[in-house]
Amino acid sequence: MLIEFQVDHVGGPEVLKLQDIPVPEPQDHEILIKVEWTGTNYFDTYKRSGLYPAKLPMTLGTDAVGIVVTLPRVQMVATSLPPLKIGQRVLTCEGAAFAEYMVAPWWQVAPLPDDIDPKSAVAMATSLFTAMYLVRESYQVKKGDWVLVRAAAGGVGLFLCQLCRYYGAHVIGTTSSESKVALARAHGAEHVFLTSNTSAENIEAVHRLTGNGVHVVYDGIGEATWEEDFQIVRPKGTIVSFGNASGPVLPFAPLKLSPKALKVTRPTLGPFIAEPEDFARYATEIFDLVKKGAIKTSIHKVYPFTVEGVAQSQLDITSRNTTGKLVIHVAN
Ligand SMILES: NC(=O)c1ccc[n+]([C@@H]2O[C@H](COP(=O)([O-])OP(=O)(O)OC[C@H]3O[C@@H](n4cnc5c(N)ncnc54)[C@H](OP(=O)(O)O)[C@@H]3O)[C@@H](O)[C@H]2O)c1
Repeated sequence: MLIEFQVDHVGGPEVLKLQDIPVPEPQDHEILIKVEWTGTNYFDTYKRSGLYPAKLPMTLGTDAVGIVVTLPRVQMVATSLPPLKIGQRVLTCEGAAFAEYMVAPWWQVAPLPDDIDPKSAVAMATSLFTAMYLVRESYQVKKGDWVLVRAAAGGVGLFLCQLCRYYGAHVIGTTSSESKVALARAHGAEHVFLTSNTSAENIEAVHRLTGNGVHVVYDGIGEATWEEDFQIVRPKGTIVSFGNASGPVLPFAPLKLSPKALKVTRPTLGPFIAEPEDFARYATEIFDLVKKGAIKTSIHKVYPFTVEGVAQSQLDITSRNTTGKLVIHVAN
């Protein structure tokens, strides 16, 4: 038997329930993992609230660091990652991870290098994979580009600031408090504007710095900042809308893109790591960047694996009072 957090109807954090259920039976292509650490992502709150429809009952959670209990029954093809072994510590961001045991497809599980500690590793899972595909594929950040990162002190935001800086871009961040400004600066943002300024003030400040607006805006806020994105991006620039922290962006007509010949993309992580070698390549690059000290992880708080702990982490991430990552200690 195992304990996991399920929801059988959508709603607020009160719908989270602890269930005692059988250990999942892996399908042929899946690995059984004993979970040690998991993390809270905004995505979990969208599924819990019903913004992202899902089949019920469902187990929440996405990211996990844990120990391999069983290997898949099908032959694993070689990728650029080392082969998986029973008893090995691994990282995945593709599973129902708020649980003592979970299953994941073998090609979305990476052996964790010994020199990366499990708590930091789980803090980088979905958020750092996301930041990587955003700067590589949603828009390819180049040396000298001007980039605007919204919620720059958040879980994805701090990784975006560091990666854009690492690839030589000038990073402008936006955030809601002076302490968050300092954190975003410490992670690579050269300029950070407060969201308490008026929209006109921030648009003018961006144009003063960049001349013509930014090459790309990375926006995980959604509805509240969507219109402003059109004002701060330069002609032929790109708006990457990748989240709904303030609510989803409303439908719009493609003609809206025409005056500045803009590109808009609304990506999600799944398709970027769907193929074994895509996941392997991103995992390898992430581990290398962390090992060489190019990327730091910032952990807001560690929560216990209890009803109160998991619910509190979901309240906290939506409160606007957190920075960096929220992680949950499941077991030793
Ligand atoms: N598409 C993908 O592949 C993908 C993957 C992972 C995450 N995401 C998205 O990325 C975004 C950030 O996720 P995260 O887990 O790293 O969270 P986070 O950035 O740590 O937290 C959300 C932040 O959004 C800002 N915010 C602005 N308006 C808000 C509002 N009305 N309500 C709540 N927060 C507001 C707050 O930062 P300030 O105080 O600085 O304003 C808040 O701290 C989310 O939208 C998430 O869905 C997308």
